[in-house]
Amino acid sequence: MTRPFFSKDRISHFDIFQKHAEDSLNQTKVRLQEGYPVDFQDMVGRFTLDSATEFLFGKCVGSLSAGLIYPKNSLPGQNEEHANHPSNLFARAFSEAQSRSMLRSSIGTIWRLAEFWSDRIRKDMEVCHRFIDPILKDALEVKRSIKENEQSTGQGCTEEKGFLEDTLLGHLTHRPVTDRAVIRDEIVNILIAARDTTASTLTFLVYMLSQHPDVLMRLRAEVLSTVGSFRRPTYDDVREMKYMRAVINETLRLYAPVPLNVRTSTEAVVWPGVNGGPPIYIPPNTLVPFSVFLMHRRKDLWGPDADIFDPDRFIDERLKYLTSNPFIFLPFNAGPRICLGQQFAYNEISFFLVRLLQTFSSIALAEDFQTRPSKSATGTGRNAQEKVIIKNHLTLYVEGGLWVRMGEAGSSNDA
Ligand code: HEM
Repeated sequence: MTRPFFSKDRISHFDIFQKHAEDSLNQTKVRLQEGYPVDFQDMVGRFTLDSATEFLFGKCVGSLSAGLIYPKNSLPGQNEEHANHPSNLFARAFSEAQSRSMLRSSIGTIWRLAEFWSDRIRKDMEVCHRFIDPILKDALEVKRSIKENEQSTGQGCTEEKGFLEDTLLGHLTHRPVTDRAVIRDEIVNILIAARDTTASTLTFLVYMLSQHPDVLMRLRAEVLSTVGSFRRPTYDDVREMKYMRAVINETLRLYAPVPLNVRTSTEAVVWPGVNGGPPIYIPPNTLVPFSVFLMHRRKDLWGPDADIFDPDRFIDERLKYLTSNPFIFLPFNAGPRICLGQQFAYNEISFFLVRLLQTFSSIALAEDFQTRPSKSATGTGRNAQEKVIIKNHLTLYVEGGLWVRMGEAGSSNDA
């Protein structure tokens, strides 16, 4: 049902990205000029929410219109009106509900006992539903008015028919699904798939650019030489930027937006042991959780420098690790349930990055506002280098947001 929406034609129209990217970056510029850092994670979450809702439901929820958040300890950050804007309430509840769902799955089936007296997700889901219900109501009304039109005039309104044919929500309401709750759950599901994953990738990518100015400079040079300083990127531009694809892939490798996944075995199987260890017997009908996050960092699969952020590994001779075993890189999973939005996501991320790097030439972590890992909790290896706290609900995110300061292009000598 969903697959037809991801045809090349549909995912290579960049108009949707353009207006929301422009809005996000203009607001970012203004906020930085006011002297405050910007929570990139929050900003880009609004960009992906508005883009995803427009693409999937034919109507943008306007989360950018609420404005960007201020740091909590600043004076404007205490403004309750902003905190209680419907899209902000939704974003908070959406994230909180995911954390609690994750907690349920980590406890296992006995979570029901732990919540015997009260359903700990209900309150947040009510907030989410209050936000989603009007979108669904509008869609059902469009469907009803088409039906009425068809009955009275023998033909429906073209624009409304377009909604049914062009958007996923249109199709969902068109099918003989009578239960509104089912359609609503589908909407929530696809929003998680489309919005949080893409926002997570862009957040960790910008975090990496703040830590690797050499990568930022090279990526920006590629953007400026391919697209120039002002032009809007096309589908062909995006395909041409090989270094950009490598930077995105390296971010997806080290910070897989869906870090944990699970499958259930259908029959008994014996897996070969890892690194010479004993074989592993998996009985039928067994839950098999796996960590993409850990697999993407394994030195036996990616080479001795697996811990290091280096986009060139997707270009130079280290590509051999991947070409000889493509299943070591699974940010979108693989097989029949592979992500349907993979190409859409690459397009959206690339589009936003081009616009970002045309607008800004430097990126620094605002360490004075950033929630930092405590010294005792830093661990070893790559973890010891992290300057942010990495958390996971269903998707990977930065605790407390990713606070950055960025220098506008043109205010320095390089653009
Ligand atoms: C970097 C961004 C993204 C990542 C890392 C990602 C990752 C994934 C993963 C790992 C799965 C498989 C889940 C499973 O194992 O069953 C998945 C499924 C899916 N994704 Fe994505 N996704 C991204 C962006 C998107 C976008 C932008 C959309 C929609 C516009 C989308 C739509 C879907 C859908 C519909 C499925 C379900 C496919 C099915 O079950 O057959 N994803 N995604």
